[in-house]
Amino acid sequence: MPADFFSDISNQQTPPQYRYFDGSTWKPGSSGKTADVISPIDGSVVGTTPILTQEEIDGVMAAASAAQSAWELTPLNKRVGVVHLAADWIRHYLDYLVALLVREVGKSAEEAKSEIIRTADLIDYFADEVQSIQGMTLDSDNFPGFEKGRIAMIERVAYGTVLAIAPFNYPVNLTASKIAPALLMGNSVVVKPPTQGGISALHLVRIFQKAGVPAGVISTVTGNGEIIGDYVVSHPAVSMVAFTGNSDTGVAIAGKAAMKPLLFECGGNNPVVVMPDADLQVAAREIIKGAFAYSGQRCTGIKYVLTTPAIREQLVTLVLKTIPEMVHPGDPRSPETKLVGPVISEAAAKKIEEAIQTSVKNGAKCVLGGKRDKAMIEPTVLTGVIPSMPIIAKETFGPVVSFVDVASFDEAVAIINRSSYGLQASVFTKDEGSGLVFGKKLNVGTVQINGSPQRGPDHFPFLGVKRSGVGVQGVRYSLEAMSRLRPIVLNKPQ
Ligand code: G3H
Repeated sequence: MPADFFSDISNQQTPPQYRYFDGSTWKPGSSGKTADVISPIDGSVVGTTPILTQEEIDGVMAAASAAQSAWELTPLNKRVGVVHLAADWIRHYLDYLVALLVREVGKSAEEAKSEIIRTADLIDYFADEVQSIQGMTLDSDNFPGFEKGRIAMIERVAYGTVLAIAPFNYPVNLTASKIAPALLMGNSVVVKPPTQGGISALHLVRIFQKAGVPAGVISTVTGNGEIIGDYVVSHPAVSMVAFTGNSDTGVAIAGKAAMKPLLFECGGNNPVVVMPDADLQVAAREIIKGAFAYSGQRCTGIKYVLTTPAIREQLVTLVLKTIPEMVHPGDPRSPETKLVGPVISEAAAKKIEEAIQTSVKNGAKCVLGGKRDKAMIEPTVLTGVIPSMPIIAKETFGPVVSFVDVASFDEAVAIINRSSYGLQASVFTKDEGSGLVFGKKLNVGTVQINGSPQRGPDHFPFLGVKRSGVGVQGVRYSLEAMSRLRPIVLNKPQ
């Protein structure tokens, strides 16, 4: 029964007051201060999470540090078993977790189900992949001036305590994508869940606890980032920070974390370039899916389309014609709703509305949507957008796609490479060769040819350049990023 399995994590009142996990026990915060988690669907309170005091954070960190080395010394096959069991529990509680995600972050049941199943599959993949991570030995004689016999034995070892900071848009998946590799490489992990989405993330931590992660090795620190963020990221017990979230927060965390290793996935404004020979039907459908899925609240969401005026005219006509078939905004609980529901909060919706209005005031044309009702933003299409307009100069986390006219495709390259973001870009062309040549000119993490930007499949490398990220994720890459090399050199006896 889900109610029994998850009973410790809240006081089970309505709305529930959730607790934090100090590594051994689920506890209410001592200050009595809490953050409300508000459903974007109807404004109801889903529950509250405690805002921890610095003393409580110190306690969590001390427990994580104390437990780490025994965990790293636990045989890998046992750690793998625990992590696989967590994946099994996630599948077991699929329906329960889906219902929670729908209410807490406003995903449709289909989107929530895909997040949960993807998470279980990802965790299993991590647990399988870690078994192929091996050390190596190097002999000295390759280097000029050295004889044979000075041997470096190079192992991968844990950093210590990984701080995992996850965002609201995939609160289960993007928490698990940090917990699993951190644990498998022998680290303790302290989870800092997002405020919105935090309840789902706490459920995930409970699953890992129940799967057998020992006391202290997994724990949570809850509280709004503005209140506890600086203290947590600069905490001396934190050895590494893994973060997904917006770029401004990423820059602030990097400053506070000083020389700690970082693995960051930050914002993106993910442009699409449509070449004159592209299949415009395919491009239009991919643009709609890429721009409007989960109401545009994906760091890989398409934000703008670059093409020549002649192609743009045909493409916008096709996009507008296809939207009614693919997009049906509404309550994510309704089976009628497709792609667009409310954004995460009314405050977030107001910011999106403002970016639309400012861009229109500065000369953009709104050819579809543009209006807000509480947390709902209509699916919006803008034309005549220029790169300095706020709708694309900053990441807009909402259901808005902008068309930017270019005189040439060299101009498109210049615009993309001038942007302060560099997560992904897509190129649509029937000639894959010219797509490859064009893709190589783009300074972004990943270039997609004839498909919309996306993280998956999750074993592919996933990275951003410039303000879009630090380090590389993806199954093997994350395992490597959450560990370091430790060479031990055997010198020749004198
Ligand atoms: O929001 C950031 C996610 O990493 C994007 O993942 O491309 O699977 O939606 P996705």
